[in-house]
Parts: sequence; structure tokens; C-alpha cells
Amino acid sequence: MLKKEAGSAELPQHIAFIMDGNGRWARKRGLPRTAGHREGARTLRRIIRDLDSMGIKFATFYAFSTENWKRSDEEVSTLMRLFEENLDDLVNYENENIRLRFIGGRERLSDTLRKKMLDAEEKSKSHTGMTVILAINYGGRDDIVRAAKRSAELISEGSLRPDDLTEERFESFLQTDGVPPVDLMVRTGGEIRISNFLIWQISYAELYFTDTLWCDFSKKDLEAAVNEFMSRSRRYGDAR
Ligand code: FPP
Repeated sequence: MLKKEAGSAELPQHIAFIMDGNGRWARKRGLPRTAGHREGARTLRRIIRDLDSMGIKFATFYAFSTENWKRSDEEVSTLMRLFEENLDDLVNYENENIRLRFIGGRERLSDTLRKKMLDAEEKSKSHTGMTVILAINYGGRDDIVRAAKRSAELISEGSLRPDDLTEERFESFLQTDGVPPVDLMVRTGGEIRISNFLIWQISYAELYFTDTLWCDFSKKDLEAAVNEFMSRSRRYGDAR
């Protein structure tokens, strides 16, 4: 249950998830790693509804990093197939007011997947409820380099002066343009690291690490993370 009275009692506006531990979940059951990713996709569907019912406005999920291409061909192709299979009905576009967005480079993705991403964005673009952002072929450094290139282009064509390149302006070149900064970053699966996820956007995020594997992550676990967030006091560098 959410403890409304805790701390600032402000719900996080934006929660980012590193969905780790699918391989271990599968191994514990004597199943191939890919079975863990299938179960992980079911968890993602469940958690999206839980977030929506809690009133969270933005949620970003790390589905595939720029480094994940190093995994076996079989694992990469299963993940890509899983994304393709799930996008058509991840949201019930007729009845749910959830908007879907994607971050990450699309150049290396299949035509089929790219088309499904565009379809999902198009079908949900007028939705005004929670925004779900899926990070596919995403890397925080890559995001920053793309924004730096965009700034350099604008400067070289004369439409941006170096002095006008403020934090706000630079931020508008990141793929998360229009999305508020991350308030709470949750990583499942026991590792205590950020793994190149949203490194600019988490500057002032509260970090929450749990040993629970992503496939086992439940509404209760989500509420525990949000309660912990609400019990912390956020000062943004201020001493008070
Ligand atoms: C990390 O666990 C997980 C991933 C690299 C993939 C995450 C993808 C999903 C949960 C599916 C998302 C589905 C859609 C439709 C977007 P790991 O494989 O590193 O686990 P391990 O640390 O136990 O080996």
C-alpha cells in the first residue's frame, strides 16, 4: 500500500526502470535465458498497469542497451522478436489513455520493428494519461553525443550561438525532450549500477536498488520503492 503520509508525500512524476535479472530468473527454473525475457515482457505489461493505477505520469523502461548487441545472436533476435510481438497490444489503444514513446537509435532495428514503433506512437499520440517510454538500443552516452552533434550542427549553420547553449537548450536535444527529469530510478536484480541509462536525466534522481529479479517484481515491490522515495528528503544541492 502507498503511504501517502510519508516524507514529502509527493509521488514521483517520472520513474525509470532497469529491468535486470531475467536470465537468472530463467536459470533458477532450468529454462533458457530467453524464457526469462518472455516472462520479463509479461512483468512489464503488469507494471505499466500498476503505475497507471498509482497515478504515475511518466515511466521509462530499459529494454535494450547499446551494449546488448554483444549478447548471443539467439538472445538478441529473441529480444527483437519479443519487442515486435508486444508492441501491437502493449497498450489497448482504443480504451487506454496511455501514450507510448521510444528512445534509442532506430538505425540498427529491423524495418518491421521500426514500423511497429511508429504505429504505436501514432495510435497513442493523442493520449493524455501516463507516458510509457521504451528504451530500445539506448545508451546515455549515445543520447548525449547525438545532442552534442545537433548543437554543433546548429552552431555551424549559424542558428545557435555558443553562449545560448544553456542546460535547458541542450536538454531539448536529448531524446527525452518534453519528458520531466527522472525522480526515481529503480534497478531490480541486485546489481548496484546505472549501466549507461539516462545518465543526464538522473542527475537528481533518487536511486533504489532491489535484489528482486525483474520477473518477480510485483505491485508490492513497486509500492515499496515509491514509499521509500516519498520518505526521502530531496534538497537539490540546497542545505536546508
Ligand atoms: C536484463 O536482464 C534484461 C534485458 C537485457 C532485457 C529486458 C527486456 C525485457 C524485460 C522485455 C521487454 C519487453 C518489451 C516488449 C519492451 P539480464 O538478461 O541481464 O538478466 P541476468 O542479469 O539475470 O543475466
